[in-house]
Amino acid sequence: MKFLGSKALFLLTTLVLSSFLFSTATASAADVKKPAFDLKARTVKLNNGVDMPIIGLGTFTLPDREAEFATYTALKAGFRLIDTARAYRNEAAVGRGLKRAIDEGIVKREDVFITTKLWPGDYANAERALDESLKSMGLDYLDLILLHQPDRRNGGDVVAYKAMEKAVKDGKVRAIGLSNIYTPKDFDRVAKAVSIPPAILQNETHPFYQSKEMKPYIEENYGTTLMCWYPLGGRGNTQKLFENETIKKIAKAHDVSSAQVILRWHIQSGQIAIPGASNEDYIKEDYDLWDFELSDAEMAEMKALDKDEPFFRFRF
Ligand SMILES: NC(=O)c1ccc[n+]([C@@H]2O[C@H](COP(=O)([O-])OP(=O)(O)OC[C@H]3O[C@@H](n4cnc5c(N)ncnc54)[C@H](OP(=O)(O)O)[C@@H]3O)[C@@H](O)[C@H]2O)c1
Repeated sequence: MKFLGSKALFLLTTLVLSSFLFSTATASAADVKKPAFDLKARTVKLNNGVDMPIIGLGTFTLPDREAEFATYTALKAGFRLIDTARAYRNEAAVGRGLKRAIDEGIVKREDVFITTKLWPGDYANAERALDESLKSMGLDYLDLILLHQPDRRNGGDVVAYKAMEKAVKDGKVRAIGLSNIYTPKDFDRVAKAVSIPPAILQNETHPFYQSKEMKPYIEENYGTTLMCWYPLGGRGNTQKLFENETIKKIAKAHDVSSAQVILRWHIQSGQIAIPGASNEDYIKEDYDLWDFELSDAEMAEMKALDKDEPFFRFRF
């Protein structure tokens, strides 16, 4: 009797405890709001309440003159998001392109969403690096800053992330996030060590490499939005996507280009795309995505193109 009583008590305690733990986990998962894409407004509401444009111009590999021209041309064409990084060494040129668009009355500063990234060499002095970026772009705040890649060995990424959190409190940046994190475990390692959940994860993502694990993981657990680099496959790879028979067929059906089909697929999938382009015609085309829509069947055909294969192999 005594034995049965203590066993029953043990079972009851286990049941109460596990139901408490279960309900806590469920409640916190339920509290996480998945990113809300609004294709009419052309924005997504991030997990911190900030609205961010869903199509932007990428500036990787663009030398100064091209980065300045592309930034100005993109803003003139309607883009409201520009992506750069300290490692691209073109932040000042992006700042000049933005200033020209502001001076000509094309945009106001507050209409534009400027993103940059800290490089691992900056992580130990992240606050100083962020201030340098602001100065070289001629800005008094950034809209988004990301850690360009992880620094697992030294935990330097967590240190730098905390400096970015301070920058949010100091009003120097509106949103912060991560880049090049490809496993839930690695994402948790940083996200669980900090206070502000990453608003963005910027990873290589395109029809042949669709982030099928990371996208739902970050959305469901942190409300983090996926931002796609190499959205068109990256320089030297684009034709592999553009010449794909499925993409060509869908492009023909809508009388648009393969690039436009891919970019429309990104935003209809609920992920931000930042195509890199230096050519005026490409820039205009990449923002001309609003007068056609991929059907459910076409979205399913695009989904079936996934090979889970990146074009770029990291060695960190
Ligand atoms: N976080 C990271 O580690 C990371 C890594 C890479 C990139 N990024 C960011 O992601 C952005 C996008 O990546 P990406 O620029 O490397 O690759 P991408 O956007 O996938 O591809 C760029 C290539 O597409 C071409 N292109 C653009 N629009 C086109 C159109 N409508 N028709 C035909 N071709 C078109 C460009 O032509 P042109 O050569 O004529 O301009 C360029 O060759 C970068 O610019 C950068 O901001 C981040």
